[in-house]
Amino acid sequence: GKGAAMVTAVAYRLTEQARHIQQTLAEFRLSKNQLLEVKKRMKVEIERGLKKDSHKDATVKMLPTFVRSTPDGTENGDFLALDLGGTNFRVLLVKIRSGKRRSVEMHNKIYAIPIEVMQGTGEELFDHIVHCISDFLDYMGMKSARLPLGFTFSFPCHQTSLDAGILVTWTKGFKATDCEGEDVVELLREAIKRKEEFELDVVAIVNDTVGTMMTCAYEEPTCEVGLIAGTGSNACYMEEMKNIEIVPGTEGRMCVNMEWGAFGDNGCLDDIRTTYDQAVDENSLNEGKQRYEKMCSGMYLGEIVRQILIDLTKRGFLFRGQISETLKTRGIFETKFLSQIESDRLALLQVRAILQQLGLDSTCDDSIIVKEVCGTVSRRAAQLCGAGMAAVVDKIRENRRLDHLDVTVGVDGTLYKLHPHFSRIFQQTVKELAPKCDVNFLLSEDGSGKGAALITAVGCRQRDASSS
Ligand code: GLC
Repeated sequence: GKGAAMVTAVAYRLTEQARHIQQTLAEFRLSKNQLLEVKKRMKVEIERGLKKDSHKDATVKMLPTFVRSTPDGTENGDFLALDLGGTNFRVLLVKIRSGKRRSVEMHNKIYAIPIEVMQGTGEELFDHIVHCISDFLDYMGMKSARLPLGFTFSFPCHQTSLDAGILVTWTKGFKATDCEGEDVVELLREAIKRKEEFELDVVAIVNDTVGTMMTCAYEEPTCEVGLIAGTGSNACYMEEMKNIEIVPGTEGRMCVNMEWGAFGDNGCLDDIRTTYDQAVDENSLNEGKQRYEKMCSGMYLGEIVRQILIDLTKRGFLFRGQISETLKTRGIFETKFLSQIESDRLALLQVRAILQQLGLDSTCDDSIIVKEVCGTVSRRAAQLCGAGMAAVVDKIRENRRLDHLDVTVGVDGTLYKLHPHFSRIFQQTVKELAPKCDVNFLLSEDGSGKGAALITAVGCRQRDASSS
């Protein structure tokens, strides 16, 4: 009768709804062929970045770092390190001891960088950094020491030596004026001078990927690749000098900071980018830039999710069709929320409680959909990141003309460390897409701080050797 017809109608609407949602998410589900294609394109962009003729216009910049070897255990001394550009800004004192009882001891303090400072003037930003160093030196009682300093600065820099780096462009949430095109080591030195309170010897500028690789290589010499899957996404690896055409010399190797976050900025990923990816890009501080990073990293995954949820809500499939103020707010879904929502141990009720905390009233059905959206977006991120890594390890294998390569990748980053599935899917993808490589993944403990100190130690040693 009438009742049965209504039930059928409701059921029909439900399956219709499920079909629409699945259709939306299907765009995010990449086939193995698509991922192999991403790997292949990454390889092309790597070559363009390395070659002299194409370097200037290349999107994946392949920046030389002037780090020519991994640590050998003879590093020694006390160093100051700065870590700017990750989730937290930190100042560290790192004591490295060589010899039979090798050890690294660290003290550090986290400082906030207010958003006004991140997006104010360069002078304000560097004055703030020096202010934090001053506080730290007081706290450690070391103001008179003139320590060597390694500056982990996790943004693309054109380096001409270990201690010179011109900021190519800000990425992630930073936008301080008058820094792009400037040597950030000089900006730091000038700010230290302005303060007139203490002296420091800035020895090295270090990308976080490089710090991570060096930290892991200190324990495991086969580590020749560094990966950050956190707020941003990037990798570095030991490349043959003869392939790095913009640096003179052909002997040995040098670590290259890939800046792979910019992969796709020339449109080469447009066929897999969705309208949601475009919306995230348009809403960002750096439209048109870091397109791969915007599909892969912690700072943006939540934003992709938010764009999908807004669309599904508008179409009446979620939250009773009501777009709340929360859902309109940029940046609400931080990595830690996605990680919680996707945790297998979480019951749906708990998912709803998390959404409630964010100010989203959900039904049980809503929470199932939200969880699926999150899972689909983070799976694609892990797979895309894996496709990039597969290109890197295969490149190293081909450089060495090997049929088979054993290599270790040092990894850091909140997404990799906090998310319940990212690391597994990422590793599985690398394995599938680079079957001729056996890749071992090593988590780095405090790569940015320790790594900067190790590089600074090597830098001091090289300098001493060349002056004596
Ligand atoms: C951004 C930066 C890059 C850094 C990465 C991870 O992509 O441009 O330098 O390594 O984030 O922090």
